[in-house]
Amino acid sequence: MRRLLPVLMFVGLWAGLCAGADMPRLDKDHDEYHLIVDGKPYLIVGAQVHNSSGWPDTMAPLWPALNKLSANTVMIPVYWEQLEPQPDTFDYSVVDGLLAGAREHHLHLALLWFGTWKNGGMTYTPSWVKDDPKTYPRVQTRDGLMVEALSPLGQHSWERDGAALSKLMSHLKEVDGDQHTVILVQVENEAGVLGSDRDYSPEGDRAFAQRVPDVVLRSLGLKTSGTWEQVFSERAPEAFMAYHTAKYFQQVASAGKAAYPLPFYINVWPREQPGLLRPGYSSPSGGAVAYLLPMWKALAPAIDIIGVDNYDTNPAPYFGLADLYSRPDNPLFIPETGGTVAHAKHMFEIFARPSALGISCFGYNGSDLTQTATVKPPYSAVAIDYALVGPAAQMLLQLRDAHHLQAAIEEDGLANVPLLFDRYDAVARFGPVRSGYGGDRGQGNTDLSGRVLIGQIAPDEFLVIGVDANVLFAPKLGHRGMASVVSVEEGSFVDGMWQRKRLLNGDETYFGLELGPEGTTLRVKFTLPQ
Ligand code: DGJ
Repeated sequence: MRRLLPVLMFVGLWAGLCAGADMPRLDKDHDEYHLIVDGKPYLIVGAQVHNSSGWPDTMAPLWPALNKLSANTVMIPVYWEQLEPQPDTFDYSVVDGLLAGAREHHLHLALLWFGTWKNGGMTYTPSWVKDDPKTYPRVQTRDGLMVEALSPLGQHSWERDGAALSKLMSHLKEVDGDQHTVILVQVENEAGVLGSDRDYSPEGDRAFAQRVPDVVLRSLGLKTSGTWEQVFSERAPEAFMAYHTAKYFQQVASAGKAAYPLPFYINVWPREQPGLLRPGYSSPSGGAVAYLLPMWKALAPAIDIIGVDNYDTNPAPYFGLADLYSRPDNPLFIPETGGTVAHAKHMFEIFARPSALGISCFGYNGSDLTQTATVKPPYSAVAIDYALVGPAAQMLLQLRDAHHLQAAIEEDGLANVPLLFDRYDAVARFGPVRSGYGGDRGQGNTDLSGRVLIGQIAPDEFLVIGVDANVLFAPKLGHRGMASVVSVEEGSFVDGMWQRKRLLNGDETYFGLELGPEGTTLRVKFTLPQ
């Protein structure tokens, strides 16, 4: 394979050149990552439809609903069983329908390749794969029972999966190579096996008895060498499965990339789960779990981004997980998150993080929209975020790159968050503001929904975006005058340009900048007379 790599990379580069300029790509500049779409940095404000919604009849009412949600990117599965119902017979009609629907509704697509793996199983593989475990071997348990998951050791499986992905990518190049409706491809879904910690088939046992390859030791900085058990002890089954799964991914992804090199990502079911830690049961065994990330990077370079599915509502584990996947060799991307108020709040913080490509809420089905004009719970808080952040995305990315963007989110017992800028200090106050010792303070919202993004546009000018909050600015400590408000404009961005709706004065600004439950975008100018 090592000898094949340069050839595949050359073929990939060539395919990219042929696919036209300004292909979507992942860029790293001054240690910060950006997804570049149509030549510009792009922030993913995404929504993923349900697992089996990627069919024309299901999508028809969903497209307008996705517009109401104000998502800019929709994640939709493409099913191996549908794309290749018989070996070497391909049906692109469903994919073509997705492209048409997305274009009509001015949305970008991330296509999710539901091939060998779906949540540690093989439910979306074609029936000719499911029916033939001799050719496409399954993982076997310690007792020799077959699990409903393909073994990563199965060469025919990765060859067929890679060939099918390659067909899909060639087709995308042909029908979308100029338009770039599809900007990303997710390879597989939450890979690894559920139902066993490793493959105990005779072939699995043979491979498990071998010595750990040098590339694994090197990538993880391990000094001990030996068998998987000697090197990894109780983590050996998981590390062994991850090694073979990463190699499988490289085969599949490099075949796809050679046809049309869009940025490829994977979504990881994290190992860090509530309850007992039992890889293979509490989470799939073999995925790109955090401690094995450097190994995955070394073995599967055709995967550009390792994303992590992150559903926690508690901020500590949520941001802890985000930190684990945000590394110099990997941008932060959360391909799946929930739709609750807590998730909507976490999003504000994620959008402000350097190198964050964006986020996507999972399972949006638009059912709430059939009767009503606006998005209702459980996605209403996310819809508010997306309507605020989507139009401002270009400006937010510029501010973030200049290190002039900060977020504040409300937490239990944390209702007043200071944010410090060059010439001004600000405080985000959540909930009703009351006077007391120490000044005027937010008392907290009952649902802890407060969230704010503040960007310094110029030394005396700020963009303030927020929900359920009140923001107060003051000159930096030590400045001897008052900060006078020059103007507070309420508005939004249209095609990247600021559009003022009205000027706010009087009660709306006298007691701090009020950001209500529907969310508000303000552009504020101050002056500091001496
Ligand atoms: C994570 C998976 O990647 C999704 O496809 C879906 O099954 C969700 N879990 C359900 O919560």
